[in-house]
Amino acid sequence: MINVAVNGYGTIGKRVADAIVQQPDMKLIGVSKTRPNHEAITAVEKKYPLYVVKESKKSFLKAGIKIEGTVKEMLDGADIVVDATPSGVGIKNYELYKKLGIPTIVQGGESKDAVESSFNARANFESSIGKSLVRVVSCNSTGLARLLTPIEEVYGIEQVRATLVRRGADPGQPGGGPINDVILDPVHLPSHHGPDVKSVLPGINIDTLALKVPTTLMHIHVVNITLKGDAEKAGMCELLSGESRIHMVAAEEEIKGIAGLKELALDLGRPRGDLWENCVWEESVSVDNKEMYLFQAIHQEADVVPENIDAIRAMVKECGREESMELTDRTMGMGLGR
Ligand SMILES: NC(=O)c1ccc[n+]([C@@H]2O[C@H](COP(=O)([O-])OP(=O)(O)OC[C@H]3O[C@@H](n4cnc5c(N)ncnc54)[C@H](OP(=O)(O)O)[C@@H]3O)[C@@H](O)[C@H]2O)c1
Repeated sequence: MINVAVNGYGTIGKRVADAIVQQPDMKLIGVSKTRPNHEAITAVEKKYPLYVVKESKKSFLKAGIKIEGTVKEMLDGADIVVDATPSGVGIKNYELYKKLGIPTIVQGGESKDAVESSFNARANFESSIGKSLVRVVSCNSTGLARLLTPIEEVYGIEQVRATLVRRGADPGQPGGGPINDVILDPVHLPSHHGPDVKSVLPGINIDTLALKVPTTLMHIHVVNITLKGDAEKAGMCELLSGESRIHMVAAEEEIKGIAGLKELALDLGRPRGDLWENCVWEESVSVDNKEMYLFQAIHQEADVVPENIDAIRAMVKECGREESMELTDRTMGMGLGR
């Protein structure tokens, strides 16, 4: 069993904790919080051992929430730590993990230049084997890496141009936005997302542009790829359908946007309405010899979760990519049953 600590029980951390509990080869030894709010209470209700940063101990005692100790004490029993604290905190926390000799996974909010290896299971699982500090790339980069890897393998990619229409905030962030605008984020082009994708797919030529829009549900990617080899639509759709972490949205589903996808996830009883898969609209896949276009939706809160599970195995267990992805997919219930 791999003993895993999750430092930071927020949007990403609570989902990763739930996925760890589902793995036959992993044990969740603790999760951490700084504030004694509803998420802390839920963690205790789920019987997750709850730890806190030292300074917060008093506030938890005052709120009557049972804690097991401090983050440092949680780390005592850890074979690996998944840090899901806010951007910039994870890399600071690494000083402690390093001192304790604990292999560490940080999230996409940390800089690609601060880690030994960036990770996406489909694109570069092997690069993180035996590493001490690995970063699971952001939700957008995860979505692009999953899409581009099989296309590069089969057809070769000359150039990718992707426009990322990003959700303004997560549903649990009332202070996010915009609420009545479309923000050019950033205004200068291309955006930083392309170089981030290259941290797991260094050979791909990719330029990205990004906008922020008033929704909390999902991101949409508008993707144009110039292929090296000739392709046709049927072959491309067959290739993408064969990917376990890509769902091809069929015309018969009559889903024309992200609200429909979230409704589908909720109807299927997915926890928190999570969509771990890229959702590619089959109708949007247009291929004219070497030029192709498509729309895909990415659930920002969910797609990196299975990637964190695979990163754990890559770092501390002698396990191949296919074996790990198959186990993660099976235990989490990947695939929308179509
Ligand atoms: N949200 C997304 O859509 C998304 C997608 C992909 C990747 N990411 C990346 O994932 C990381 C986490 O993002 P998130 O959205 O999950 O953040 P979040 O919802 O704000 O959660 C952060 C968690 O970290 C805890 N925390 C804060 N400071 C801490 C500290 N010093 N020590 C221990 N725990 C601390 C917070 O606890 P309290 O609430 O108790 O303070 C909270 O539970 C970031 O790098 C982000 O860029 C986010």
